[in-house]
Amino acid sequence: MILAIETSCDDTCAAVLAPDGRRALSNVVHTQTEHARYGGVVPEVASRAHLERLDGVVEKALADADVDLDGVTSVAVTVRPGLIGALLVGVSAAKGLAYARRLPLVPVDHLEGHVAAAYLAEPDLEPPFVALIASGGHTALYFVDEDGMRLLGETLDDAAGEALDKGARMLGLGFPGGPEISRVAQNGDPARHDFPVGLRDKNNLDFSFSGLKTSLLYKLKALDENGAREELPHLAAGYEAAVVEALSRKLLRAADARNIPTVVAAGGVAANGLLRRTLREECDRRGLRLVVPPPELCTDNAAMIGAAAPLSRAVSFPDYLALNARSV
Ligand code: KG4
Ligand code: ZN
Repeated sequence: MILAIETSCDDTCAAVLAPDGRRALSNVVHTQTEHARYGGVVPEVASRAHLERLDGVVEKALADADVDLDGVTSVAVTVRPGLIGALLVGVSAAKGLAYARRLPLVPVDHLEGHVAAAYLAEPDLEPPFVALIASGGHTALYFVDEDGMRLLGETLDDAAGEALDKGARMLGLGFPGGPEISRVAQNGDPARHDFPVGLRDKNNLDFSFSGLKTSLLYKLKALDENGAREELPHLAAGYEAAVVEALSRKLLRAADARNIPTVVAAGGVAANGLLRRTLREECDRRGLRLVVPPPELCTDNAAMIGAAAPLSRAVSFPDYLALNARSV
């Protein structure tokens, strides 16, 4: 069994997976609520909370899977990218567990983990495919084949999740902003306000969300308090629709450009209902196979890190003692 640990941002996560990494026996996510009142993740608060919670989260992951450490044959852990202090807590714990049991340690890239969530969702999935990762820290398109992930395009400024989080903050909504904007947008008309879709007609695979943010700022400035309250659902709906259009358009363009019949959407923003519906419709129409993990495997979790382990290079005992976390 693979024991997987993920602490790159504000979720303390551990999971146990079958040796091929395509089936999770447990998947424990402890989302830190400490950050909500700051409207964003505070790195030092995140590290401390990981330190306090990780042992309990690992114990629960083992208990839920009904295995003890004797049944664990390798330890996988996110080593990059992320908040360095937060990553270090997970990497240190993983090193300690692996060292005590003389097990191999598998360093996993968080972004490869997001993509690997697709293998948990549909275990028969095999490369090649085109993958969108849209999260709070990253928004990029990759071509995935047996040799790994090749970058096709990425955001020139904010990540999609970051744009949603910042938009939500401007609208006076809570954190994380993505689910909040979706909730409020349900009663809104996305066409009532005209929002720009960054790089929409540029013939490339990049994204830009800064113009969208500025557009929301100016729309809010033009409204008084009452007006802003009345327009809130419409503003949220228009803003969400612009983010979704940018993501779906470029993902489908990448599939066309590469002539690849399989597309994957992953990362926290892929939990978004409108994005999931839009991609489903567009892929059905074009006859493409769409793999989107269930929402709980799109947002940060350790099962996806375990799923990426068989695709990553394991480091044998005790060479990993020199292994380090990296923020980028
Ligand atoms: O992948 P993730 O959990 O963490 C990072 O690696 O960043 O992504 C978190 C991001 C946040 O920006 C959050 O607002 C967004 O994903 N998010 C959503 C939804 N759930 C989480 N955005 C839109 N709709 C959602 N349902
Ligand atoms: Zn993530």
